[in-house]
Amino acid sequence: MTGLSRKSSSAQPKDNLSPGDVDTVLEARDLHVLFSNGVRAVDGVSLQLHRGETLGVVGESGCGKSTLGRTLCMLQVPSSGKVLLNGSTISDMKGRNLRAARKNLQMVFQDPYSSLDPRQRAGQIISEPLLLAGAAKAQRQARTYELLDLVSIGPSGYSRFPREFSGGQRQRIGIARSLAANPKVIICDEPVSALDVSVQAQIVNLLVSLQKKLNLTYVFISHDLAVVRQMASRVAVMYLGRIVEIASADSFFSGPRHPYSAALLSAVPSMSISATRRKPIPLAGDPPSPINLPSGCRFHTRCWLKEKLHSPEICSTVDPMLAGEGNHQAACHFQHSVNAKTGD
Ligand SMILES: Nc1ncnc2c1ncn2[C@@H]1O[C@H](COP(=O)(O)OP(=O)(O)OP(=O)(O)O)[C@@H](O)[C@H]1O
Ligand SMILES: [Mg+2]
Repeated sequence: MTGLSRKSSSAQPKDNLSPGDVDTVLEARDLHVLFSNGVRAVDGVSLQLHRGETLGVVGESGCGKSTLGRTLCMLQVPSSGKVLLNGSTISDMKGRNLRAARKNLQMVFQDPYSSLDPRQRAGQIISEPLLLAGAAKAQRQARTYELLDLVSIGPSGYSRFPREFSGGQRQRIGIARSLAANPKVIICDEPVSALDVSVQAQIVNLLVSLQKKLNLTYVFISHDLAVVRQMASRVAVMYLGRIVEIASADSFFSGPRHPYSAALLSAVPSMSISATRRKPIPLAGDPPSPINLPSGCRFHTRCWLKEKLHSPEICSTVDPMLAGEGNHQAACHFQHSVNAKTGD
């Protein structure tokens, strides 16, 4: 991608801060989502989202990114675990309290074609959250024009239908709608994946400028590591429902500590990632079934590092927890060997 804004350094928590130093807006504690078909889509995720940051969430298709995003804003009820917003446990809330809390958490979806009701005009679509919140008509209209301006659609867009906009403009309408009720956190689930590359850059720039203007906190879900590198101040890597690495973006992109992350990064030719550039790292086969998870480390069945280390027994017997120095953590028994072995 070209022409993207740089991530905001002011929004980026410093790598050497302890968790108590940062202002946590949203927190997940040991979240699990087990679907009725036996799929463990989210399998023990804990994370803290710091006010003003963008946490990029990456991983292969089916690893649980969208389910985690939906659970963080309570569109999906967790099977167990907690979600806390500003210290209040919203996963225990119901009815009016939950609706009020959820106003602070909004989602922007991947597909601007299917996430907007084709029978509604843009003005109606954007103002719907305000209608649900009981705002009067004049107030709704004024706020909708303000939002159209904020996303650079302009007042003429108010009475047009989704089909009358381009893909990028439709995503702008989706973003305007997500902003209607003044949320604190926006979960962006692949918000630019369905758009042309040139339009992707415009939407990324819009999200960055809105974040600064409105002091928003983002979870930015994407399979595109180049976009995540532009947007994110921290990165979490998911594999089979679990976060296997979480770090500041600078630390992550300069030296991933999980063999899975190193393989993902090495597959992006446009990135100059010193430690992983030397050779593409093979990522054999597809992920195992999320119904029957492997024993020990869930990545061991595809792990290139395990092969290089001559298959240590611990990899297939002991499930590694997230561990590491500073704010860079990885769930790998041999995380200190990852960078040494990538250049072999
Ligand atoms: N409602 C559901 N019922 C049963 N299984 C589901 C449901 N939603 C998702 N899954 C399964 O949960 C797992 C995680 O899905 P999810 O959509 O969260 O992955 P993802 O990382 O967002 O993938 P993608 O990159 O393709 O969007 C997958 O195995 C998926 O098939
Ligand atoms: Mg998804």
